[in-house]
Amino acid sequence: MVNVVKPKPDLNLLFKPRGIAIVGASHTEGKIGHTIVANIVSNGYSGGIYPINPRPGVIVGHKAFQSVEGIQADIDLGIISVPARFVKESIEDCGRAGVKFIVIISSGFGEVGKAALERELVTVAHSYGMRILGPNIFGIVYTPFNLNATFGPADIRPGNVGLISQSGALGIALMGKTIVDKLGLSTIVSLGNKSDLNEEELLEYLDKDPNTKVVLIYMEGTKTGRDLIALARDVVKRTPVVVIKSGSSKRGAKAAASHTGSLAGSDRVFESAFEQAGLLRAHTLEEAFNWVRVFATGAIPKGDRILILTDGGGVGVMATDACERHEVELISDYQYLNDVFGGIVPEFGSTKNPIDLTGQRGDDAYLEALEASLKAEKFDGVIALYCENAQSKVVELSGRIIELLARLDNSKPLTFAFIGGKQTQVALDILHENHVAAYDHPDEAVSSMGALMRWMRMTQKPNQPGIALDFNRERVMDIISNARSQGREQLLETEAKSIFEEIGLSVPKSMLARNFEECLDFSDQIGYPIVIKIASPDIIHKTEAGGIRLDLQTRAEVENAYRTMMSNITARYPKARIDGVVVNELVPKGVETIVGSTTDPSFGPVVMFGLGGIYVEVLKDVVFRVAPINHTEARSMVRSIHTFPLLYGARGEKVKDIEAIADALTRISQLICEVPDIAELDINPMTALDQGKGCKVVDARITLTHKESSTHSHQNCDTLIPKESSNRSHKDNESVSERECDAFVQGYLNSLNLQEEGK
Ligand code: ACO
Repeated sequence: MVNVVKPKPDLNLLFKPRGIAIVGASHTEGKIGHTIVANIVSNGYSGGIYPINPRPGVIVGHKAFQSVEGIQADIDLGIISVPARFVKESIEDCGRAGVKFIVIISSGFGEVGKAALERELVTVAHSYGMRILGPNIFGIVYTPFNLNATFGPADIRPGNVGLISQSGALGIALMGKTIVDKLGLSTIVSLGNKSDLNEEELLEYLDKDPNTKVVLIYMEGTKTGRDLIALARDVVKRTPVVVIKSGSSKRGAKAAASHTGSLAGSDRVFESAFEQAGLLRAHTLEEAFNWVRVFATGAIPKGDRILILTDGGGVGVMATDACERHEVELISDYQYLNDVFGGIVPEFGSTKNPIDLTGQRGDDAYLEALEASLKAEKFDGVIALYCENAQSKVVELSGRIIELLARLDNSKPLTFAFIGGKQTQVALDILHENHVAAYDHPDEAVSSMGALMRWMRMTQKPNQPGIALDFNRERVMDIISNARSQGREQLLETEAKSIFEEIGLSVPKSMLARNFEECLDFSDQIGYPIVIKIASPDIIHKTEAGGIRLDLQTRAEVENAYRTMMSNITARYPKARIDGVVVNELVPKGVETIVGSTTDPSFGPVVMFGLGGIYVEVLKDVVFRVAPINHTEARSMVRSIHTFPLLYGARGEKVKDIEAIADALTRISQLICEVPDIAELDINPMTALDQGKGCKVVDARITLTHKESSTHSHQNCDTLIPKESSNRSHKDNESVSERECDAFVQGYLNSLNLQEEGK
């Protein structure tokens, strides 16, 4: 099959087609092909509508044609809803008629293992200059053009939220939910198997679409994670993007993969990648809808000084607590607060933030205070809480709020929490109808304000260029080629360290001694105290194998340690290839960290950081970033681990050299991007010394990709987390959950078995 360059028809023709052919438009009401035509017609689409069916007649008021090719009209969009075996010929029919975009509703392709057939459809479409949305989707909606080419609900509520859904069933359900929740949509695009058009292209379009203020993406997996990150970094500066990514649990990830045939990458990497790109990840549908609602108001925060206004002390406290959880800063200029609200708040209320009007002051005072808070310069956003009481006229109040906001032409970020009974629900509906971000719980009002604040911070983050890594690539490749020529995919520790030294990391003095005499000689040269480690491509976990001896103070101690190590190891691993021992300078005490990298199926090379020992083994307190990263990201990575206080001088220790860690992380991230032969690496430990003293690569491992693959191998990030060390018993871990313990013990046993097998 000829490889055709991906065509680039104007995406406007997908959302605003001049004519639509519906191939498989059915004469029978209730069939998918019939419902699609009915939805297109009932939503008032004004372009040409052309049902295609082998039988002549009229379908939902429109003449049926036997093929697209014969129709004398500008048809930009072809919707295909015929059984899978007829899809290819239908695409060709559309192609001959000059159609630009194909929406394939039909199932029966990649999601059921027929990936080759799916690729063939794309090739055929491209050969006619067409692009495909789907297959296995429910269609497309664009409300500004009255287009509803789906078999979902007919009565979509117009608005400014763009919804992109990988899941069909959920997408349809979300369409329904937006109607009930009174959330207006500009567009809904179903992506399904993403054979051709994907999130990136659609996001790029919606970012430029004046009718879309916020985008909500439901995603199960992506094969083009790096493209998404690169694009999103720019898009989110203008258009906030909320993402729901399913498949975060191991079981969920499996379900996602079988559902659409897509790859579900490691969830930790997704989490980090979204954060890097400025995508706001919501963990529930409710949360996503709440956030989208506030973004849909179009409010753009200018700062982070937030005010809480309330008519009830209790909800005020709840909201204050929630502010801490959702990183919302409360303004605490008490003089200013008193100046603004002193005349409105009763004596028994409070002019501290939250401003507590109490239930007795009534709706007039509530509105007066709301108006004052929206007008006051120093408040960048307002969270207004309202508890319905016996005197409340909450429905009337909602109307008055809408009038007030219109009169002030308010653009200040504002979220409401209305708490109460039936009347409150009516009031909330009215507020939603009028595009006000109102919720029925203080936490939701705060969480939504928090999302707005996070978005603001992300848009203000300066774009920092990455560092250009200056290293002798040839030397690195020589080391790799040498290992490959010996049939090794695992570099020796000395080789790995040479590479790290080459990219500018600080490696303790180290020499490979091939025999006993060299070992003594090199120990003298390096100077005591020293460390010796076994050098063998077959022994990866050296500590467990008894292949490391630390703090050897004299020549005699070295002599003794060498002889014991060699006799133990040759007895235990008789088949292991032994290259000698590595003689190392002893690194002063510091904090042991771990730096690693792997290749994620969705995002490619990723870098990992955490503290060593139990922090990584038991607590799994590590963070990932998609490589490459710059210094700012590297610093934020260091701060993101839960145990970061241990690096910042906790328990009377000196602050460690954070800058040196960040520098090492940026260099490693560049290395793995520039040398795709590296599948995985870890420096464990990389000892962080006191501030100004740097950090040292104490132990290092680099695994190469399989010889035949020129790109990164696909490894899960969890493989970076080292196995339990042998000197910790199951009992030592009793404070950890039983499941964690079992996993560790199992992991440890597996690692030993592997080594035994490799003997
Ligand atoms: N050209 C034009 N019309 C054709 C052709 C053709 N080559 N072949 C068949 N047709 C007509 C049929 O005659 C029929 O019309 P009629 O009812 O008037 O006789 C119509 O097209 C439909 O064909 P059927 O064989 O009746 O197929 P059916 O409607 O049962 O199913 C469908 C077609 C819906 C595409 C099905 O094969 C399918 O893939 N279903 C799954 C769809 C889906 O769920 N997609 C994912 C959405 S997202 C989610 O998960 C909700």
